[in-house]
Amino acid sequence: MGGIIVVTGATSGLGLALVRQLIVAGYQPVLTGRNIEKVGSLAAELGVAGYQMDVADAASIQQVSAQIVDDLGAVDGLINNAGIWLEGDFETYSTAQILQVMDINTTGTILTTHAFLPDMLSRGSGTVINTVSTGALYCRKLISVYSASKWAIRGFTGCMEVECAPKGVRVMGFYPGKIDSSMYETAGIERDLEIAMTPEQGAEMVVTMLQSEGMVWSQVSGRAISDYQ
Ligand SMILES: NC(=O)c1ccc[n+]([C@@H]2O[C@H](COP(=O)([O-])OP(=O)(O)OC[C@H]3O[C@@H](n4cnc5c(N)ncnc54)[C@H](OP(=O)(O)O)[C@@H]3O)[C@@H](O)[C@H]2O)c1
Repeated sequence: MGGIIVVTGATSGLGLALVRQLIVAGYQPVLTGRNIEKVGSLAAELGVAGYQMDVADAASIQQVSAQIVDDLGAVDGLINNAGIWLEGDFETYSTAQILQVMDINTTGTILTTHAFLPDMLSRGSGTVINTVSTGALYCRKLISVYSASKWAIRGFTGCMEVECAPKGVRVMGFYPGKIDSSMYETAGIERDLEIAMTPEQGAEMVVTMLQSEGMVWSQVSGRAISDYQ
């Protein structure tokens, strides 16, 4: 148990709750986010390592991932959590909005995995958990691009699960429904979050996935990692 766990998008909501719970669970979380002021103050408050890493910027991912390994040593876990919301009629989206959602939610998750995974594979151990969404399990109106960004990660996660498990590395997807975070408000959308799960409840689930070292918690159920050999 324990180890170094990098969390992306950890300056609010689920990611921040996760960093707090990882500390309590005996891990050494690394708090990363795009906003340097938030990263600096939260890392200092919690007494953890903090790095500005913008997952929409391939160079930032490459440089910062290398810096984290240089500074702290081998990374045991990666939680790809950074994500943004986009809602509305598809034809009203700007090109910039579409590209931003895909860059952060999809390409950011894939490139951050690409940066940290090789070392895990060479050591034959490690865990990658992608925060997906129920938006990747069904289709509904007004969330076409957000949904597309997460369906892509559902496919990526499933393929990486079967590719990496025989090599000792667990790649898993976490599929929450509504979380009472600032995600909708940041996107300018009003949403009733009275019945949503709290970020702390979501974080508990992710910590459980991390702790069950022999299991791969795929979309539907957990499997023993040895089932893939
Ligand atoms: N809220 C929900 O109902 C819900 C449901 C299902 C899945 N999810 C997923 O859960 C994850 C966490 O979201 P949340 O609900 O906790 O929302 P949140 O509070 O808005 O947190 C999102 C985090 O991602 C960060 N971020 C955004 N763009 C980034 C970038 N380019 N590089 C690095 N970090 C970036 C944000 O940083 P700033 O502080 O700088 O904005 C923030 O820390 C997301 O992947 C989201 O899609 C959320």
